[in-house]
Amino acid sequence: MWPALRLDGIEISIIRQINALATPLSVNLGIGEPNFEPDATLRDMARRAATVPWRYSPNAGNLSLRKRIAQGSHFDPGSEVCVTAGTEEALYAIFQAFVDPGHEVLIPNPGFISYAMLARMCGATPVPYDLEPPDWTIDPSKLRFTNKTRLVVVNSPSNPLGAVIDNKTLDAIARAAEEHDALVVSDEVYGELWFDERPPSMLGRSKNAIAVNGMSKSHSMTGLRLGWILAAEPIMKPIITTHQYIATCASVFSQALAEAVLDNSRWNRSWLENVRAQLRTQRDAALHSIEHELGAKIPPPPGAFYAFVPVPSSDTLTLAKTLAADAAVLVIPGVAFGSAGEGFLRISFAASLDQIGSGIERIGRWLRTAGSGS
Ligand SMILES: Cc1ncc(COP(=O)(O)O)c(C=O)c1O
Repeated sequence: MWPALRLDGIEISIIRQINALATPLSVNLGIGEPNFEPDATLRDMARRAATVPWRYSPNAGNLSLRKRIAQGSHFDPGSEVCVTAGTEEALYAIFQAFVDPGHEVLIPNPGFISYAMLARMCGATPVPYDLEPPDWTIDPSKLRFTNKTRLVVVNSPSNPLGAVIDNKTLDAIARAAEEHDALVVSDEVYGELWFDERPPSMLGRSKNAIAVNGMSKSHSMTGLRLGWILAAEPIMKPIITTHQYIATCASVFSQALAEAVLDNSRWNRSWLENVRAQLRTQRDAALHSIEHELGAKIPPPPGAFYAFVPVPSSDTLTLAKTLAADAAVLVIPGVAFGSAGEGFLRISFAASLDQIGSGIERIGRWLRTAGSGS
């Protein structure tokens, strides 16, 4: 049996490979999901959500939820919102709807692994644009548009960088995409996880902008698979078609829970404030340990829950595997996120203060021992 050609060179991600090295003694700082548990109110909302009829919803999701999602925006809940089985399915539906063999897709480097894989599965070529350390800024003039460019993907706050794209850069990217007749896909799944000010959204900057978002990261609902897409009607129409043949509709239980969350705006506001406060404490603890144990002072990431840390290694894949085996700590090699990530490790601070402290200390101890040649 031969897998389809579209899977040529596509493997399970390095993140999964590293996580497979976990033992009961490992400290896991490789994690891409939040470390907060549902509170009593959220559990109660989930219990009530389980009582909705277990039947298909409309393909694009229940209209009542789409109304909540579109609230405060200019999008028409009837035709410009689609609820998906997580942000990942949202991205897949968008790529399937717009990307053909021979097309090019501009993707961030370093950036979330899926973007390149989704492009390749469509027979298209991922064309990376490099972000500039230490703040991981984007120079829009470096985006290599051609007449084959179909999509430009932006991700703010970013996985793996925690970086946020400012208004001016978002505007410049939106303008450039319009000039080249390309669509902008703005992955805003970490949009609620920020520390100083709310990250600006791509929405409203261009008729060509598509935003994807979801509840995985903001509400610790990674396993419930609930995301959504906002886009102008002509763009949304083919997306709803691909979404129908991928998922039919998102889980109606998860839709009902998401609607309850968005309905309960008072609880939701306080949940998100608590989440940000907890993540800030964890971020600051991680930065402190990174500076003292690893000797690296990085600009505090303004969003998400990742620190992207320079290390004295030009083979971070081997380093991460060795750290997993010899130091019992899991971190993700920067190269997993593209060539510009080589020389860095992604340290997730979605972990307890104890784990953050002991995990980074283990990395530091291992690097010092290896560095002294013993
Ligand atoms: C940047 C980014 N986009 C999308 C996703 C997928 O999230 P979801 O659980 O909503 O599918 C992730 C998950 O790690 C992510 O980091």
